[in-house]
Amino acid sequence: MLVRLKNVSKRFGDVVAVNQLNLEINQGEFLVLLGPSGCGKTTALRMIAGLETADEGDIFIGESRVNEVLPKYRDVAMVFQSYALYPHMTVAQNIGYPLKLRGVKNTERQEAILKTAEQVRLQGFLDRYPKQLSGGQRQRVALARAIVRRPQVFLMDEPLSNLDAKLRGKMRAELKHLQHELAVTTIYVTHDQIEAMTLAERIAIMNQGVLQQVGTPKSVYNDPGNIFVAGFIGSPSMNFLNGELIDGDFITEKCRIQKVGKGSHGDVILGVRPEDMKMVVSGQSHLEAILYSVELTGDQTIVTAKLGDDYFTVREDKEYEEAIDQHVKIWVDASKVFLFESSTGKRIRFN
Ligand SMILES: Nc1ncnc2c1ncn2[C@@H]1O[C@H](COP(=O)(O)OP(=O)(O)OP(=O)(O)O)[C@@H](O)[C@H]1O
Ligand SMILES: [Mg+2]
Repeated sequence: MLVRLKNVSKRFGDVVAVNQLNLEINQGEFLVLLGPSGCGKTTALRMIAGLETADEGDIFIGESRVNEVLPKYRDVAMVFQSYALYPHMTVAQNIGYPLKLRGVKNTERQEAILKTAEQVRLQGFLDRYPKQLSGGQRQRVALARAIVRRPQVFLMDEPLSNLDAKLRGKMRAELKHLQHELAVTTIYVTHDQIEAMTLAERIAIMNQGVLQQVGTPKSVYNDPGNIFVAGFIGSPSMNFLNGELIDGDFITEKCRIQKVGKGSHGDVILGVRPEDMKMVVSGQSHLEAILYSVELTGDQTIVTAKLGDDYFTVREDKEYEEAIDQHVKIWVDASKVFLFESSTGKRIRFN
């Protein structure tokens, strides 16, 4: 592997920003560090970059332990959310700046600038200043300035979050293609789970400084290890319902879902994804609720129903229509549900 964190912790006063983090990133891998605001993502990234010192633990890049190595000797390039371009320099000068610092000769530098500008599709903008560029173009300059250095590792901290939704989608595809082209090891920080799912080879999910789970997008989605991961990955989010497991059936005052597990387990939380429920008119149903809202997104309809204080989100096809406040019935695919221990949030597995 190329980057390795071993029991790395960082405190700011009473706050444990990163708590005993163990993480390995392979050569050429695109790893996304995902979690809610304040969970320690930026702190973890800054420790790898050398912009923050770890209180405990070891950080390795390649074979070397780099805890005491200055940022400029770590061979990493960081891309920030704010782009941090030099306003008085043109696009070409911004891109070429890291090479200038390194003392690369002018002709060689110009060649590298041109090649990199082509990679991020900025050929036509080399003489412009940052203020004459759109957000997406500025972001590409920041990327180019990282690429031109040919670092061992890219560290990216929410690089797309200043862009509007459409541009973000487009830049996501470009980043993915660029990664395919360059195959540089990348650690990418975001709180946006869609960005994580679409970009990552593996996702590392953090909460309150603690690593929750590491895995491919598919595995964290299909096989979450705890209720935090289950609820954080997926949009709309997984539905949760408190109840008991009795002889393999999930039972609450409001419903009974048969054969969701084995044996009995006291207080549990049942989780079911919106696509694993269905609004039904006749036949078997598990929940009877009141229709709360119907949102057509174009290719699908997001249906929310209310039962007491609980809301359920069901992903329906685009033809679904029903009036708000009507009584509705919901069927749950018992083969697709997840069960969690109420007290710890840990997944309960049956095989
Ligand atoms: N320089 C600092 N001084 C004091 N506390 C800090 C400092 N930097 C970060 N923290 C605290 O450490 C915790 C983790 O912060 P961090 O910036 O790593 O979170 P994050 O996951 O990047 O969040 P966001 O998604 O909002 O960027 C937070 O509680 C934050 O307030
Ligand atoms: Mg951050």
